[in-house]
Amino acid sequence: MSLIPTTGAMRAASESLHKMPKVTLPSLLEMKRAGSRISALTAYDYASARIVDEAGIDLILVGDSLAMVVLGHENTLAVTVDEMLHHTRAVRRAVRRALVVADMPFGSYHGTVAEGLANAVRFVKEAGAEAVKIEGPRVELTRALVDAEIPVIAHIGLTPQSINKMGGFRVQGKSASAADELRRQAMQLAEAGAGAVVLEGIPREVAARITAELPVPTIGIGAGPECDGQILVLHDLLGMSFQPRAKFARRYADMTTLMHDAVSHYREDVLGKAFPSDEESYHLPAAELERLNKKDAKLERRRA
Ligand code: KIV
Repeated sequence: MSLIPTTGAMRAASESLHKMPKVTLPSLLEMKRAGSRISALTAYDYASARIVDEAGIDLILVGDSLAMVVLGHENTLAVTVDEMLHHTRAVRRAVRRALVVADMPFGSYHGTVAEGLANAVRFVKEAGAEAVKIEGPRVELTRALVDAEIPVIAHIGLTPQSINKMGGFRVQGKSASAADELRRQAMQLAEAGAGAVVLEGIPREVAARITAELPVPTIGIGAGPECDGQILVLHDLLGMSFQPRAKFARRYADMTTLMHDAVSHYREDVLGKAFPSDEESYHLPAAELERLNKKDAKLERRRA
């Protein structure tokens, strides 16, 4: 008896995935030019990355948000390059179509450009990332990475790695001058070669202007609907995160309840001896069973 829904839909998804061309950074640019929206999500392990990829999401970010939603840290600062590499490898093994982007963690590109470059190379070489994402207006580093053939996704606005400097997760670009500064940063990053720019936690009106001005796609999170694409943290979408929810983090499922109910049901079955059933058990071949029964009967007789 299986409680798992039919795999037919999954097989069909996987077959149709074969027919869809691989997403690359140039194809994201084509999507912007064609006015097609870009769908992006985070994923951190093999199983979730497979599901996200087979659902047709264009870009999968192994986000440093995993520090919070997977590893239970208070913010994103603690996660290390080695931990990010470990998760990026798992995602890479799962994904066939989406563009796989690795988030460079706090401290891995905040020193010299050479250090940032060396760490970015690790994500490409050791984990198979197809692009890296870096937070903040790091124009010089962006140029150096692109020169080294490493595609870059920039990330400006509310940059979670700046939590201590910002004094919390606060919406950015809320004045005309701050908005102008964000527009300037976005343009400089695009000119330095960034293939796309993530706009996080900024007013919709500012994101719309940046999107209209920029030659490369914008991918918004808490930045309104005019961005060329949208990204969310998978665990927020699935209702599996335990932090307070931002207003843009629309919940599409309640996986916490679903998992809790499934696990409680399993526990009840174990305690009530309803699991496993006979059909879920392995059996001796009939001849071997007969032999065993005979041996046991002989033993019994000897004991009597
Ligand atoms: O780490 C992350 O998940 C992110 C995205 C939400 C943009 O940076």
